[in-house]
Amino acid sequence: MEPIKVVITGAAGQIGYQLIYRIASGEVFGPDQPLILQLLELEAAMPALKGVVMEIDDCASSLVHDIVYTSDLKEAFNGADYAFLVGSVPRKAGMERADLLSINAGVFIDQGRAINQYASRDVKVLVVGNPCNTNCLIAASTASDLSPHQFFAMTLLDEYRATTQLARKANVHHSKIENCIIFGNHSSTLFPDYWHTLVDGKPIVDLIKSPKWFEEEFISTIQGRGAAIIQARGASSAASAANAAVGTMKKIVMGSETPFSVAIYSQGEYGSTPGTYVSMPCTSVDGKVTPITDWKHNPLAQDRMKATFEELEKERQTLRALGLLND
Ligand code: NAD
Ligand code: LMR
Repeated sequence: MEPIKVVITGAAGQIGYQLIYRIASGEVFGPDQPLILQLLELEAAMPALKGVVMEIDDCASSLVHDIVYTSDLKEAFNGADYAFLVGSVPRKAGMERADLLSINAGVFIDQGRAINQYASRDVKVLVVGNPCNTNCLIAASTASDLSPHQFFAMTLLDEYRATTQLARKANVHHSKIENCIIFGNHSSTLFPDYWHTLVDGKPIVDLIKSPKWFEEEFISTIQGRGAAIIQARGASSAASAANAAVGTMKKIVMGSETPFSVAIYSQGEYGSTPGTYVSMPCTSVDGKVTPITDWKHNPLAQDRMKATFEELEKERQTLRALGLLND
């Protein structure tokens, strides 16, 4: 089998350190798929990245055929088949993720341009760096020769968070929970759609008969989980973020018949604004990610969805006002 080229940006950062070794072990692209790892970092972080590369060497992974580590965008994205865009500044306590927009936008413009010029024409890109939905929009709009459907932003971490909270409340193992899908933005407006969530095939709202808990505790816990981790750890989530990045790319590449949360290029599904990157239920077959578009929502859920869709459009308007959007 020919090796595939996998880019990880911010490779010496917290998430990078968790992510690279799991990719190298075959967890994402399969146990027989040879890999060329192409690791991008800022020049200042090259000594740390060198240490990360030494550790990859010391894992003696049979799948890793070559490692490129560089601060040069052309070298990093050259022929890339898959890219995890992680490298960017994380928020600190008291900030919203959108506060990072003006700080991180330039990173995704440069990387979008490099992807457009140097990556494989079939490249698939997962944006993790925050605010990930709108950074995804920046990268995709800059990579104007590629389809915007080749770009995705990560909301599976929010789904995993929501699944665990629901399982705990329902007193079941989280493997019993299905269809716990995140709608909208990876932000404090995200909507974890408990109305469609099933426990052992039955609606969870029929099991947990507490509308107040869902609306006043559950939703805000998931919306505020990232901030709560920053508060507790003094740094943003890393192991669980890498775990969700592994899960998302694996579902995109290897397929998933069961719905999962990922932000995709909207074509107006569920009343979202076309052209923004919106999380919604998706399935994946043969590398093609398709949204499920026929879930019905009551007015309570519709209000939540409207708020998060409006926020995404507002972030897009901010980009336009700053002259950062290539549309
Ligand atoms: P970190 O600060 O530990 O690591 C980031 C790394 O990126 C650093 O090593 C830095 O040198 C590098 N970097 C910065 N600019 C770069 C550039 N232009 N090119 C290449 N590398 C660059 O941060 P982290 O904890 O790894 O988080 C990374 C990003 O992921 C943050 O934006 C964070 O908010 C985001 N995040 C997203 C989710 C999600 O669910 N979508 C979850 C957790 C974290
Ligand atoms: C998270 O959800 O943990 C990340 O997006 C980091 C953050 O800023 O909350």
